[in-house]
Amino acid sequence: MSTKRILSGIRTTGALHLGHYFGALQNWIRLQEEYECFFLLADVQALTTHFDRVEEIESSAREVVLDFLAVGLDPEKSTFFIQSQVPELTELSMYFGMFTRMKELELNPTVKSELKAQKDIYYGFMGYPVSQAADILLFTTIPPESGDELLVPVGEDQVPHLESTRKTARKFNEIYGETFVIPSTLVSEFPRLPGLNMEKMSKSADNAIFLKDSADEVRTKIVKAFTDPTKEKANSPGHPHGCAIFQYYKALAPKIADEIEIACQKGEIGCVADKQRLIEIANEFLQPIRERRKKIKKIRLI
Ligand code: TRP
Repeated sequence: MSTKRILSGIRTTGALHLGHYFGALQNWIRLQEEYECFFLLADVQALTTHFDRVEEIESSAREVVLDFLAVGLDPEKSTFFIQSQVPELTELSMYFGMFTRMKELELNPTVKSELKAQKDIYYGFMGYPVSQAADILLFTTIPPESGDELLVPVGEDQVPHLESTRKTARKFNEIYGETFVIPSTLVSEFPRLPGLNMEKMSKSADNAIFLKDSADEVRTKIVKAFTDPTKEKANSPGHPHGCAIFQYYKALAPKIADEIEIACQKGEIGCVADKQRLIEIANEFLQPIRERRKKIKKIRLI
């Protein structure tokens, strides 16, 4: 019988935030109803940037599992696994590395842009797309049957890695015989949620709302968030598209985002009121997640 599998992963470099929720988790929760799902806690890949902060990776893995459970990923339906606990992944990436050209890694646009933030270029970092190919292709049923599907739901930034994984699968099959299913990419429909300062959302930039943030933390963060600097008074016309708050409305309350957009443009709503309403919406959304997280933390001793 043919298999329909999903494999995706998240680096364990901190607790998860709203960007993860709208870019990935929300999709995964839906997909687990239809597919055999595998969700990877990529702690080895986390080492590429955190090799000298191992304790952080370990505590993050716990936080990420709590977040998975709190948002409704269900271990009865989906398999969560820790990359370092499956040594076959490391082994497979070694073999893949033998026929992966350096040029391909150097030209990968995601790797290129991530390298800008790094002082030194490490061998392990350059090879992470190879290791990611192993993460994905290990979930082939060997030998593959016609009709087998391996789908990888990811954000836009991961698309080059998936292209490279498909290449790896094809090349391996060509050299050693039909072994791996060629995986398909499911790109998240939701555009990447920016940080509260409109830059790329990340823990280190201190511009993210975490799923575990308290109501007060959410309030403080939203109050400080970036809005249209040209909207000087509450009743001056604003430009919602350059405003972080508007992006969060689109994610958290898509039904009222249109109404907010028009009211802001017409100068009918000021940024303070706009933020107040978003604080309530965000906290309403996060409250059940926080409660489940607290309960699970007690019961499962994670
Ligand atoms: N690179 C992904 C990220 O930064 C994490 C990841 C590791 C992954 N292995 C994967 C994603 C396999 C999809 C499939 O979030």
